[in-house]
Amino acid sequence: MPEMKNQLKTAKIAGIGMYVPSNVFTNEDLKQYMDTSDEWIQERTGIKERRYADRTKETTTTMGVEAAKIAIERAGITAADIDFVVFATLSPDYYFPGCGVLVQRALKMKEVGALDIRNQCSGFVYALSVADQFIRTGMYKNILVIGAEKHSFGIDFSTRGRNISVIFGDGAGAVVLQPSSNPQQGILSTHLHSDGNSAEILAMYNPGTHANHWVENKVADYDDAAMGEMFMSHQMIDHAQNFPTMDGPAVFKKAIVKFPEVIQEALAANQLSIADLNLLIPHQANLRIAQFVQQKLKLRDDQVYNNIQKYGNTTAASVPIALCEAWQEGKIKEGDLLCLAAFGSGFTWASALIKW
Ligand code: ACO
Repeated sequence: MPEMKNQLKTAKIAGIGMYVPSNVFTNEDLKQYMDTSDEWIQERTGIKERRYADRTKETTTTMGVEAAKIAIERAGITAADIDFVVFATLSPDYYFPGCGVLVQRALKMKEVGALDIRNQCSGFVYALSVADQFIRTGMYKNILVIGAEKHSFGIDFSTRGRNISVIFGDGAGAVVLQPSSNPQQGILSTHLHSDGNSAEILAMYNPGTHANHWVENKVADYDDAAMGEMFMSHQMIDHAQNFPTMDGPAVFKKAIVKFPEVIQEALAANQLSIADLNLLIPHQANLRIAQFVQQKLKLRDDQVYNNIQKYGNTTAASVPIALCEAWQEGKIKEGDLLCLAAFGSGFTWASALIKW
């Protein structure tokens, strides 16, 4: 219906903020817990240091709230103006309820809707896409979108878990989405994908209700488990089965195919090409992955933004943190064409093309 189409509004990022804990943890610092080296970590991942939240004072939600306060202020509004919250994380404060409602409470917002997104590394781009649809249809006018993680609380710091623990860091990023008065400005399109065939390649099985149903290498023997012990048991903790698990090479192989694909898809959907792109902001999974993607797409250095060296992989927070930092450094100007792209556990992958 053409009349309906005319009513659709483009969503623009009206304010952006980020928060990282002050506690810097270098590769050298990790050596007190595990057998690793600065050389190994930098060579394989590009990471030099990451931030860890204060163990007792900072949570995924509190970091998200700090980033949100900055985004709200930069959008020139107050928390009372926010009419919807979308929160992406894989490390929520509670198993349930989600972090969205905790943000609603912390910022003393009106009784607005709050939605949590569980798409790991792609979480922020998925969240942005959801928010974009609500703005386009005119349902909401000021949507707060947050990506935040507190990994330091749930990874294995012994040598056993070193292939994962050295990669991840804590932090948060947030944006406020508003309708744009200029249809040429804002989120041009978003593209979401998944392939659940590889769900267990990068996953945290426990606590969960799987009862070994999906997990090939049994993570617990439930035969003797008492009623109520199957969700989280002493045995799981004793065998370190409460930590994430990852087949790193398999993730790498899939990521270097799906990242370029979803970026090209976004450009093609808007009749644009790599040459039109001012800045690609990839999810900060691993510097080697980002460099592979850059090479494959023949992007110049100034067309790709990376900051994983300082923050590690902050999963759902990595894209908004990188976007915010690039903007703060003056690397994003009005009218620039940006592509946000992410790939991660699920597998899920996604992109968003934005005219700033
Ligand atoms: N320090 C020192 N040695 C280590 C460490 C460490 N932190 N971690 C693993 N090793 C050792 C292993 O024990 C192994 O030793 P061995 O040969 O004696 O058995 C050796 O290094 C190689 O181990 P691999 O796991 O095969 O290491 P790989 O070379 O594949 O590198 C890595 C691991 C960096 C994870 C790599 O697979 C990778 O980049 N994968 C992409 C996945 C990724 O980036 N994930 C990020 C999160 S997911 C996402 O955001 C999309």
